[in-house]
Amino acid sequence: MSEAPSPAHAVEVNVAAPLALLAEVTHRCPLRCPYCSNPLELDRASRELATADWIRVFGEAAALGVLQVHFSGGEPMARRDLVALVAHAARAGLYTNLITSGVLFDRAKMAELAAAGLNHVQLSFQDSEADNADRIAGLDGAHDKKLTAAALVREAGLPLTLNAVMHRQNLDHLPSVIDLAVRLGAQRLEVAHVQYYGWAIPNRRALFPTYEALERATVIVDAARERLKGVLTIDYVVPDYYARRPKACMGGWARQFINVSPAGKALPCHAAETLPGFDWPSLTTTSLSDAWYRSDAFNRYRGTEWMPEPCRSCDRREIDWGGCRCQAFAFTGDASRTDPACALAPDRPILDAARADALGPATDFVYRQIGGAPGA
Ligand code: SF4
Ligand code: FES
Repeated sequence: MSEAPSPAHAVEVNVAAPLALLAEVTHRCPLRCPYCSNPLELDRASRELATADWIRVFGEAAALGVLQVHFSGGEPMARRDLVALVAHAARAGLYTNLITSGVLFDRAKMAELAAAGLNHVQLSFQDSEADNADRIAGLDGAHDKKLTAAALVREAGLPLTLNAVMHRQNLDHLPSVIDLAVRLGAQRLEVAHVQYYGWAIPNRRALFPTYEALERATVIVDAARERLKGVLTIDYVVPDYYARRPKACMGGWARQFINVSPAGKALPCHAAETLPGFDWPSLTTTSLSDAWYRSDAFNRYRGTEWMPEPCRSCDRREIDWGGCRCQAFAFTGDASRTDPACALAPDRPILDAARADALGPATDFVYRQIGGAPGA
């Protein structure tokens, strides 16, 4: 299966094994969220990796030293073989986390997943209020199904994390989203402002909050963290468009995480396929180990050698690793530029202009759909 590395793809010596594998087992999903981080060109079911290939990938991941596998999508429960996949990952010794919308849950499925060795569930919520939540998800009845799913997860004795993606159209409900997480017995809540990738880009004007709204949200999160110590841990992600310094995207290019797309491409992040000029390793013909250690795609932006100024001589270069390559490409057409989310980046004015545009009059949602965004 794996081919010998060509001299041009010399073995990277000082690279640790990935900590986690994000298995995007399908792009199919009953929800149509307008901020979905999936690419505009979604993989169709006919291109999805077969059960046997995923099982082999989990075995290779465990052998490589990966500790966790996150089942994601799309909606991973749209795969009929999900229980078998979880069982094989658990048997290989991997910690298994299911990232789900919850709308395909029922008691029998929950019991099967728990028996297969599932360790943790991350459930997404679009809002605390059913009508608005269903409107954002683009699916009637979704919110009620999520409430049932949360109860089933707790009934099965599994730890629960709630993911709440916040934006202009639900940010006023942040206090009740936090209350909801406590009421549902979640141990952790991720309050994540939308980041402008994938479907969020054509929906920028529908989603982007004002700076004042962001500040109010930050105060609410800080107070809740204090009040709920020992009850609920709250993670908080702010939008890059208001940042002074970028996030260490994925903990740095090919440093901690390996994504596998539904079609079996090994990627350093969920948006990497937007970058041109890469030959992404296919796990039907390349081993996970070769993809991680030896492929040009994973080595290209590893470490600091590739960095331009101002990153190259910056004392944060091994903290944020120059920010996000996909965002640098989206804004400048060159993935090797400093992420414009950094106020020191020469291209920062491009991000400032995008922020000004995003604050323009709200537009209607462009819902996620197979076949791409109309007019995109
Ligand atoms: Fe990070 Fe580069 Fe900005 Fe320094 S210049 S803070 S390394 S993005
Ligand atoms: Fe690709 Fe940040 S999303 S490097």
